[in-house]
Amino acid sequence: MTLEIGASGSPASPVPEAAIPVSAQAPAWRHRHLLDVDVLDWSEIELVMTTTDAMREVLARPIAKVPALRGRNVTILFYEASTRTRVSFEVAAKNLSADVVNIAAATSSVTKGESLVDTIRTVEALGAQMLVMRHAVSGAPYLAAAHFGGSVLNGGDGWHAHPTQALLDLYTMREHLPGGSVAGRKVVILGDILHSRVARSNIWSLTAAGADLWLCGPSTLLRGFDRWAAASPRIPGHGRFQVTSDLGAALAGADVVMALRIQRERMAGGLLPSLREYAARFGLTRERLAAARPDVVVMHPGPMNEGVEIAPDVATDPRSVITNQVTNGVAVRMALLYLLAGVHGEGR
Ligand code: CP
Repeated sequence: MTLEIGASGSPASPVPEAAIPVSAQAPAWRHRHLLDVDVLDWSEIELVMTTTDAMREVLARPIAKVPALRGRNVTILFYEASTRTRVSFEVAAKNLSADVVNIAAATSSVTKGESLVDTIRTVEALGAQMLVMRHAVSGAPYLAAAHFGGSVLNGGDGWHAHPTQALLDLYTMREHLPGGSVAGRKVVILGDILHSRVARSNIWSLTAAGADLWLCGPSTLLRGFDRWAAASPRIPGHGRFQVTSDLGAALAGADVVMALRIQRERMAGGLLPSLREYAARFGLTRERLAAARPDVVVMHPGPMNEGVEIAPDVATDPRSVITNQVTNGVAVRMALLYLLAGVHGEGR
């Protein structure tokens, strides 16, 4: 059974084309902020997935706009470069009729020495009710959440977390895997795991989804993950993950391969001999991908270093869903803005 939920969240919107179809059986959303996926239980991840389905229905309409966030101010405050996350949050918020304010730290008073906390107080005084934030320092959105009266959505913090990316990755895998489920599927995350907030958030959501998760890369870029994997519980019905530098073993029979960018900007000296050597040993090429299932799903969160972690012909291979990830990012972020707006000031 579905209800047509309008701007107020009440049933029976008088404007059918302005409604979002949401299941009446859906559990309530309890969270005021989205700082990482580690606080979401499986029913909440499922709620994000089904709400994203509803947002895709909205996006398929001739006019992909609903009034769900009319009158709400969504402020997007990014201290680091971004194309996909920043633009998709802006598109998502506008599709929900929010008032959107964009602040790039590089052209703000941050350059004059303003602290993060003072910036948060300032944007709230300027009307921000929902704050989407990216920061180079791990934990910065947690500090923001402690000082902000509305909801904070983490658009990526340092090496730590990128929850909306993990949720759009899960959504995209379910869309493209036969049977629509990740449970029991061999999912390989390949590359610079050490510096990757995408990998860290995906570990939580993919193990919760029951994936057979393999992390693969040079041992210098896997440091610490072996201990995390060894300590992760083997819960019936849920997955755990393993760590290897054996690329052949990782790719053999893989259902999904997600290549990660080599993050040169975060790389301390000595972790890699050279990009050329990395590409030669760990780059995802057509020849190496032949070890995976013939219908393997190829992913990359972007931005890509083509010719380093992924060959150009693999990035554009028919099995690549990299542009689908970007497109799904809008629907997933619409779903998250919608869910968080529903508990503004009430959640934890
Ligand atoms: N995947 C991702 O976060 O991309 P951007 O840096 O372009 O936002």
